[in-house]
Amino acid sequence: MTILVTGGAGFIGGNFVLDWLAKSEEAIVNLDKLTYAGNLETLSSLEGNPSHIFVQGDIGDVALVERLLAEHKPRAVVNFAAESHVDRSIHGPGDFIETNIMGTFRLLESVRGYWSALPDADKAAFRFLHVSTDEVYGSLAKDDPAFTETNTYEPNSPYSASKAASDHLVRAWHHTYGLPVLTTNCSNNYGPYHFPEKLIPLMIVNALAGKPLPVYGDGMQIRDWLYVKDHCSAIRRVLEAGRLGETYNVGGWNEKPNIDIVHTVCKLLDEMRPKADGSSYSTQITYVTDRPGHDRRYAIDARKLEKELGWKPAETFETGIRKTVEWYLANPTWVANVQSGNYREWVQKQYQAA
Ligand code: NAD
Ligand code: DAU
Repeated sequence: MTILVTGGAGFIGGNFVLDWLAKSEEAIVNLDKLTYAGNLETLSSLEGNPSHIFVQGDIGDVALVERLLAEHKPRAVVNFAAESHVDRSIHGPGDFIETNIMGTFRLLESVRGYWSALPDADKAAFRFLHVSTDEVYGSLAKDDPAFTETNTYEPNSPYSASKAASDHLVRAWHHTYGLPVLTTNCSNNYGPYHFPEKLIPLMIVNALAGKPLPVYGDGMQIRDWLYVKDHCSAIRRVLEAGRLGETYNVGGWNEKPNIDIVHTVCKLLDEMRPKADGSSYSTQITYVTDRPGHDRRYAIDARKLEKELGWKPAETFETGIRKTVEWYLANPTWVANVQSGNYREWVQKQYQAA
């Protein structure tokens, strides 16, 4: 048996591939375009593992995807591939429309062609799992209840609008063509192999490099943080037992203002890698211009997933963030190699006006 994973050289996809192959004999065909966010070094421990078949390519390349489906006959497709960074979507939305909307559309069409020709039993067992985000629901006020699966879609950034569009396409391919789909909408992930353009890894690597820790606006925006391996276990569980056509919210019950996150990272670094001059890393915190249209608060109500499928996160924020900081301290080569690529140019462009 085989599954096709897309975007499996990225942050969450990479963690998913590593976890899957550590727990299962079932092979993975990993289709990834290797954009700036794709990093094969994350998967270096799988070198020579015949259960991991990596293919560089685009989910929107219909001929390639059709060939992979025909050749490997996967029993499921898990779609992680996307442009994922909100700030990049503000500077240049084109790639987000192309991959997140058009790419998902083309992938759905390739998969539909493959699935409709399967024998009845394989057809019934097949699954297309689409990995999406809580950002499709928009922004919450301070006292609003957390997002449930029935919240209306109110995306506010080019990124979240493109993900919302992809969710709608997935839904429509189920209702119209009967494609057996599942969708997960997850909150902010953190953990190993996270590209240092996102808040937590950026703060860790900047702190260690003695650089400013750029906090947008007043730093009181709230995100709901989930350790990446808990997201992976939720996806495995939904793939295994989720009801067809349903969406499942995934979250860690860990709402925190950004500034608290940054202080927590600084405290852990003060403890694990104290600065030579005895000062705290928090002295590097710098407030910078806010993100345009910045969503104020996200919060996920993950009770459906717990009630229906018995999933719960294994990590608290305290255990997960400690493991994360330890991982970055233990893997300076991974970080250095990421930083020597496009990442540097991006950081310059993003913060030069701040
Ligand atoms: P990422 O940016 O780290 O990785 C994305 C991966 O997709 C990269 O390896 C990239 O090379 C690949 N890719 C991009 N365009 C492609 C294309 N056209 N064809 C094939 N591969 C392509 O993203 P991530 O943080 O790992 O997120 C993975 C998925 O999870 C995304 O769909 C994202 O919307 C969703 N998500 C992310 C978070 C989060 O906190 N990071 C939370 C909820 C949902
Ligand atoms: O909620 C799920 C989403 O979480 C995913 O769908 C996205 O793919 C993922 O990137 C993430 O989006 P955010 O915009 O919430 O993540 P980011 O790490 O970019 O920012 C987290 C918060 O920190 C946000 O309020 C902006 C703020 N921030 C971010 C950066 C990079 C800063 O204050 N300073 C920074 O330098």
